[in-house]
Amino acid sequence: MILAGKNNHNRKPIILKAGHAIMAMNVQRFIEDAIEEIRRDVKGRAIIGLSGGVDSSVCAMLAHRAIGDRLVPVYVDSGLMRQFESDRIEQLFKDIGLVRVNAHDRFLDALKGVTDPEEKRMVVGETFIRVFEEEARKIGGDCLMQGTIYPDRIESEGGIKAHHNVGGLPSCMEFQTIVEPLRDLYKDEVREVARALNLPQEISERMPYPGPGLAVRIVGEVTSEKLDVVRKANAIVEEEVEKFNPWQAFAALLGKATGVKGDIRVYGWVVAVRSVSSRDAMTADAMELPWETLRRISSRITGEISTVARVVYDLTPKPPGTIEFE
Ligand code: XMP
Repeated sequence: MILAGKNNHNRKPIILKAGHAIMAMNVQRFIEDAIEEIRRDVKGRAIIGLSGGVDSSVCAMLAHRAIGDRLVPVYVDSGLMRQFESDRIEQLFKDIGLVRVNAHDRFLDALKGVTDPEEKRMVVGETFIRVFEEEARKIGGDCLMQGTIYPDRIESEGGIKAHHNVGGLPSCMEFQTIVEPLRDLYKDEVREVARALNLPQEISERMPYPGPGLAVRIVGEVTSEKLDVVRKANAIVEEEVEKFNPWQAFAALLGKATGVKGDIRVYGWVVAVRSVSSRDAMTADAMELPWETLRRISSRITGEISTVARVVYDLTPKPPGTIEFE
C-alpha cells in the first residue's frame, strides 16, 4: 500500500511493507549511515527542535556528530511541558550548545479559544515552526532537522492524528530542507540507538511524550489554570506508576463535576488517569494497576490539588480509544 504524503515539502511516499516488523537492526551500521546522510543533506547550518524526548535527542546527537556546531539545538519552552522538565533538559544538553527559548505566552495566546484537537495540533505545530524560523534567521540557516519516526508518519499521513512534527507543519515555511534521519525507525529501535550513543537512561528509556504536550491532555480550551492542574496531576501519576514500567502513564483534564470536600459542595475538575502498555503505540492496552495504587493516585490528586473533585481511570484499549485524549 502506498500512502501519498500530504505535505508539500520533500517527503517520500510511505510504503507499508507487509508485516513491517521491528527489524533486526545493526545499530552501529545505522549510526554510521545516518551520520553520512546528515553530512550529505545538510549543506549549511541547521536547527533541530530538541524536546528532550528520545527521538529528538537521538536525532540531535547524530547530527552533532555529523556536523558539529553547524547544528543549533533549540528547546522551545512552550509552557506545555511537564513539571521541572525544561530545567532538566537545559542542564542535560548544555554541552551541545542548547538554546532555550521561553515562549509560554506565545503558545497560550495562540491556543486561546481553540477547542478542536486537530486545530490545537496545527496551532502548536505552527507556533513551534515560527519560533524555529526566528532562531534559524539568527544563525543564517535554512535546514530544519526533526526526530520524526515511522509511526508518526503512519498516523499523520493515514489521517489518524496530525502529529505536530509531521501533519501539523504549516503549509508555508521558510525552511528549504527538512531532514528526518529516524523516519523509518520504530520507538524501540530509536531506544537502541540512544543506548548505543550513551545517552543517559532518563532519555533512552523516557516515556513517549506528545509534541503538543499538555495541550492534548486538556479536553477543550487550554488555559493556564488547567495547565497547572494537569501538570501537577501528571507528576503524581508518573511518580506512582513508574515502577510498573508503563509504555505511557499520565493525567488528562476532562471537564468539571460535582464533589464534596470537607463539608462543602465543590464543582471541580475531573482528572482522568491513563496508563497503557504497548509495543509501538499503534495499538495499546489499559494496564491492570493494583487497586491500592489507583486509590493512592486518586487520594493524592484530590488531596494535593484543591480544585480537583474527581479522578477516573481510563480502561479503553487502542483501538477504539487513542492513547492521548485529543
Ligand atoms: P495516539 O493518541 O494517537 O498516540 O494513540 C500515539 C502515540 O503518539 C503520541 N502522540 C503524539 N506525538 N505529536 C507527537 O509528537 C502529536 O501530536 C501526538 N499525538 C499523540 C502519543 O503520546 C502516543 O505515544
